Amino acid sequence: MLETLAPQSPDALLALIKLHAADDRPDKIDLGVGVYRTDRGATPVFAAIKEAERQLVESQDSKSYLGPEGDMGFVNALMPYIFGEDATMGGRIAGMQTPGGTGAVRLALALAQQAGMTRLHMGTPSWPNHAQIIGDLGLDWNGFDHANSDGTANIDAVLSTIRGAGPGEGILLHGCCHNPTGIDYSDEEWAQIADALAESGTFPIIDTAYQGLGHGLEEDAAGLRAVLAKVPEAFIAYSCDKNFGLYRDRVGAFYIMAEGSDTLDTAFSNANALARAAWSMPPDHGAAAVRLVLRDSKLTQLWQDELDTMRERMRAVRTRLAEAGMTGSVDLAPLGRQNGLFSVLPVSSEQVQQMRKDHGIYMAGSGRINVAGLTMDNIDKFIAAIAEVTG
Ligand code: LMR
Repeated sequence: MLETLAPQSPDALLALIKLHAADDRPDKIDLGVGVYRTDRGATPVFAAIKEAERQLVESQDSKSYLGPEGDMGFVNALMPYIFGEDATMGGRIAGMQTPGGTGAVRLALALAQQAGMTRLHMGTPSWPNHAQIIGDLGLDWNGFDHANSDGTANIDAVLSTIRGAGPGEGILLHGCCHNPTGIDYSDEEWAQIADALAESGTFPIIDTAYQGLGHGLEEDAAGLRAVLAKVPEAFIAYSCDKNFGLYRDRVGAFYIMAEGSDTLDTAFSNANALARAAWSMPPDHGAAAVRLVLRDSKLTQLWQDELDTMRERMRAVRTRLAEAGMTGSVDLAPLGRQNGLFSVLPVSSEQVQQMRKDHGIYMAGSGRINVAGLTMDNIDKFIAAIAEVTG
């Protein structure tokens, strides 16, 4: 039977991890997969998480099953950060834990499909795994241009897509720090998007995987909150991979906003059934650590300070890149206005290969770079390499 399988290429982004590791040039630079790095190139465990893990080891007295919804203490503790003071919006929002943000996106799309969504709209480019999940579920989808060539968001495209859709159709939006472009909607644009969603009845699915890494925890939730204030129903996929540094522990959450508690309960009974069939129950450890961080004011402060340091470092890298301006054929100036870990450079796949071969600089084939892979020690080498390869 197995001989009927066709070989699949490895995930291009994840393959970069191994390619970079196998390169023995000491000054190689990893701008591939999206992990935060310090200015020494490390991805340490957050100090707040380390302390929470220590407490967890001491206090945890059972590893018995929790159920498909996972650690509800974790799910509820996150809610004020995502949704604001009235975190349940009068009992209209509830959530469940998922294996990473990927699990949350998968569950959101599978539940939308089960609820009869006929078509999904998504700005492109997007995180490559969005398309893989959509394909795996067999969803009908339509792409629209997320960005203009000058590095700004294409607001006309998203608004006309929303207005042209309507009830029964969904749209997948990035809450902040758009992956891969780093190009986010402004507050004014989010207000327009929220109005268009409310008027058309198009169903919003908002993927928030980088809260706190753009402009701050509150600022990065503003777009999502603007939408939720206007629409009757929405799904939110949330990841703690980056903003708690829990990558391999797979910590995420899926939230549903419904018009009333009956609909919310029914929707969750479906989400629980889908989760049970897919992964049964999410992994516990990382979510339990986040719960401990968020229930202890000192650890919460420590976490927020660590997040501020990360964001400020990435901002400094972006400022330095933007100052370089026109570099070879690439204008680096727009990167200063973009947010989060990623930006896309207008380079060909041959130029990406050449960056790798000639300079030991690893970036995704799409031209996406993880700016957190740059430090004040290697940024000049990167800028010089871009100038040489594209000049
Ligand atoms: C990325 O885009 O690099 C991250 O979200 C990691 C992943 O799973 O793709």
